[in-house]
Amino acid sequence: MPDTITIVDNRTGKKFELPITHDTIKAIDLRQIKVKDDDFGMMTYDPAFMNTASCISRITYIDGDKGILRYRGYPIEQIAESAQSFLEVAYLVLKGELPNAKQLEVWRNKIKMHTLVHENVKTLMEGFRYDAHPMGIFISTVAALSTFYPEAKKVRDAANREAQIIRLIGKVPTIAAFAYRHSKGMPYVYPDNDLTYAGNFLKMMFKAGESPYKVNPVLEHALTILFILHADHEQNCSTSAMRVIGSSECDPYSATAGAAAALWGPLHGGANEAVIHMLDEIADIKNVPGFVKEVKEGKGKLMGFGHRVYKNYDPRAKVIKKMAYDVFEVTGRNPKLDIALELERIALEDEYFVKRKLYPNVDFYSGLIYQAMGFPLDFFPVLFAIPRTVGWLAQWQELLDDSEQKISRPRQVFLGPDARNWVPTIDRK
Ligand code: CMC
Repeated sequence: MPDTITIVDNRTGKKFELPITHDTIKAIDLRQIKVKDDDFGMMTYDPAFMNTASCISRITYIDGDKGILRYRGYPIEQIAESAQSFLEVAYLVLKGELPNAKQLEVWRNKIKMHTLVHENVKTLMEGFRYDAHPMGIFISTVAALSTFYPEAKKVRDAANREAQIIRLIGKVPTIAAFAYRHSKGMPYVYPDNDLTYAGNFLKMMFKAGESPYKVNPVLEHALTILFILHADHEQNCSTSAMRVIGSSECDPYSATAGAAAALWGPLHGGANEAVIHMLDEIADIKNVPGFVKEVKEGKGKLMGFGHRVYKNYDPRAKVIKKMAYDVFEVTGRNPKLDIALELERIALEDEYFVKRKLYPNVDFYSGLIYQAMGFPLDFFPVLFAIPRTVGWLAQWQELLDDSEQKISRPRQVFLGPDARNWVPTIDRK
């Protein structure tokens, strides 16, 4: 049988045979379907891209029905279990293969050379009010980096691109930690390049005064795993934003800032913060059934549940749930864990959630760990943005190397008023 699909336009009786590649048809092939020669031709209508592949990608694979997530073919569970560092996974996501020992060493050293920010970046950050949201500071400061590295706009130059990628991965933890210290009125702590990516970040966040800061290995490991789990997630909202912005060939700092802005919303990277607010609102295990009932009546959502792609348990949530116990051994148990466990138990048995295939996602347990580790709630989206910068950059690079891509420019179905004449103010009712 040929790999084609035949469409009959019942308006005209005409038949069209369209090629099928990778189980998709090209939307542009529908354009030939017309009633009259001067028609625009048929389009697909797909609000929120529910069933549209916008690119060919070789980075991250998700099978949402089976709950599978792989970076470059490696299952996320294996990566979380075996990776020695976040930068090793960053290399894999960006370059497609695991680095050998030498390549990893070179890669680490390159990133470490770029952890400092220009002193003027600090001055810029000082301009924010003391109570500025750290994600607002993060987004603005990342965008401002484009003014420090104007050569970054040469996005067709692969070597230049690589230099900006390394800079961004090196600098985002520093900017994030400075945003936090700013909101606390604490002096900034400069990067310590003898530490791991996660260890250095913890030190820049929490070192107080002149006493030496000793990184707790359990918390360092937990943060490394959390960073790994958040490194990429194929064409989600913020990654699509990165690709759309990048498609205009703007510099990667501006594009990353735009992607981070998309991440900030409560339906995306802001969900882990919303989960904690929800658990606070529930306040006690005995209130869980009443809360679930209200959700089912349409009075709000169960935050940290449901996913556009996963119609099964999010594999990242499984890893995080297991890890939570190790973290709580060090930090003390987050009292909200019991409410979360009960909420999960009831929801997973309830017909409303079962029927809609709503399972815990990555954000359901991550916030509990972040909170136990001492990160403030409004800092959670920043914690997501640090590792996701790697995924955004990998997808951005893939976009620029893809000869099929052009500037993103969707079409619309226009249902507004037809042409009409301007009415002077005096004649308006
Ligand atoms: N609680 C209660 N009902 C829900 C939820 C939820 N969390 N999520 C979806 N539903 C219901 C929804 O009301 C709809 O019901 P009905 O068919 O009766 O109208 C049905 O399930 C299908 O939902 P949808 O809104 O069509 O699903 P979507 O794919 O558009 O939305 C989502 C996905 C993640 C935005 C949504 O599930 C949600 O808002 N979840 C809570 C926020 C959250 O946890 N977000 C983090 C996502 S994972 C991290 C990331 O990638 O950013």
